[in-house]
Amino acid sequence: MKVTAKAPSNIAFIKYWGKRDEKLRIPENSSISMNLSRAFTITSVEFSNKFKSDSLFINGLKASVDETKRVSIHLDLIRSLSKINDFARVESRNNFPKASGIASSASGFAALTLAGAKAAGLSLSEKELTILARLGSGSACRSIPDGFVEWKMGRTGNDSYAHSLFAPQFWNICDLIAVVGKSSKKVSSSEGHAIAESSPFYKTRIVAMENKLKKIKLAMKNKDFTKFGEILEAEAINMHMVMMTSNPPLYYWLPETLKVMVKVMEWRNKGLESYFTIDAGPNVHVICRTKDVDRLTKRLRKLSGVRSVLVNTPALGARIIEVV
Ligand code: PMV
Repeated sequence: MKVTAKAPSNIAFIKYWGKRDEKLRIPENSSISMNLSRAFTITSVEFSNKFKSDSLFINGLKASVDETKRVSIHLDLIRSLSKINDFARVESRNNFPKASGIASSASGFAALTLAGAKAAGLSLSEKELTILARLGSGSACRSIPDGFVEWKMGRTGNDSYAHSLFAPQFWNICDLIAVVGKSSKKVSSSEGHAIAESSPFYKTRIVAMENKLKKIKLAMKNKDFTKFGEILEAEAINMHMVMMTSNPPLYYWLPETLKVMVKVMEWRNKGLESYFTIDAGPNVHVICRTKDVDRLTKRLRKLSGVRSVLVNTPALGARIIEVV
């Protein structure tokens, strides 16, 4: 049986940066995100006793040894749960180019988890699927449920899971990804999480988290876009300050990143309201109301250094799309 699943990437409004438990990928804080309609991965998994080893193809090409190993480790978890020993063939396609700097680990591990679990004959609840996806890549757990999602940090592992806060149609907001980066990031988020604690500002960040989460959830519930935007923008800067002051320091921004940030603030001061957030890479996610998408997209596309703009609406979570 070959099972194919589709999973969206997600953008975090409250970020996951730093782990309480390295192996179990238990984060230091809960996080909140939105699934993205225009950035997704489609993955098919087939287990068979004909295969001599696990194989992985990304966008039609044989993946590197390291990538294949990470996927094999995840397949081992699925094999141990389902008590099967067969190797698997995994084919994965991202609808965004690798060189765009858009991370594929969240959508990739969410799609792999869903397709792999089904192909192995497991029947897991959404909560169990998010826990399994988390073990592959932390932020992948947020790509399983629909729309606007919270990942509850938990303490032991089985209580560290993601759930939907609101359906995609709850709120007419968009994420315009201003792509400025050329290549995949130099320092992976896995390496970044491990050194987060070395920043003198990390403790302060974590202590303030609970209150921040409470405030942003209330702003989302009330659809208070201004309050919501102010919190998410300050949160992105907070995380990047921790990154830049860790040992060794991590600078994910390019000059073009800062240029877009300054423009977003400038346009906002003149009445066109949007807020930015940035993950472990140089691209800027501009969060705006749907009514402002056209004006903002036009302006972003005119900026030198912006290679493209991807317009994302809130999306459903991971789904099985084919079983053959
Ligand atoms: O899931 P990871 O290990 O790729 O970490 C994601 C880290 C950030 O994208 C920077 C923040 C987040 O919560 O998505």
